[in-house]
Amino acid sequence: MSNIVTLYHSGYGHTQHQAEAVHEGVRSVKGVTAQLIKVEDLESHWDDLDKADAIIFGAPTYMGSLSAKFKEFMEASSKRWYEQKWKDKYAAGFSNSQSLSGDKLNSLVQLTIFAAQHGMIWISLGQMPDASNSIGAKDHTNRVGSYLGAMAQSDPDSKAPSGGDLETARLLGVRVAEIVLKGN
Ligand SMILES: Cc1cc2nc3c(=O)[nH]c(=O)nc-3n(C[C@H](O)[C@H](O)[C@H](O)COP(=O)(O)O)c2cc1C
Repeated sequence: MSNIVTLYHSGYGHTQHQAEAVHEGVRSVKGVTAQLIKVEDLESHWDDLDKADAIIFGAPTYMGSLSAKFKEFMEASSKRWYEQKWKDKYAAGFSNSQSLSGDKLNSLVQLTIFAAQHGMIWISLGQMPDASNSIGAKDHTNRVGSYLGAMAQSDPDSKAPSGGDLETARLLGVRVAEIVLKGN
């Protein structure tokens, strides 16, 4: 059985919905086990990361960058980096912010470089950008036209990203699970 971990940080709960959608996508694929882990709970879960076939990383974008709590995890992973313990595991990523852009691309680039430093194999989003007559509608998938990973946008007066953004996240989870199954 392949095992896929979704590891995330969410300061105020919005990115948690995105993480849960990714996790749901992973869980929906037969033949994989899925774990959803908050960075705050990581102390007792390093072993789960070491054993995983894929890790999907996610965090909100704060000041155009991954949240500091998530970066703490990145730095704490340097012990693993030293041993290249995660080499050849699959990786993918997601980020959520308030603005449509919000500079989330920078966060996804940070995640790909992080995964590359660990020798991991990056899985892109693999969804065509929204090309409908109402580009960017909230119920459309990949409405912001991301390629590296899943992006979501959360209005300040809402608790979660839009339905389309959550579906985008769910589909990323499905894609990672299917690729892992093919590779194992
Ligand atoms: C310290 C801080 C910095 C932020 N910087 C950005 C930013 O650069 N771009 C943006 O679009 N939103 C920014 N936001 C808004 C958050 O990305 C947005 O509220 C997001 O939904 C928060 O996710 P969370 O509830 O999972 O923490 C920032 C929020 C905080 C608290």
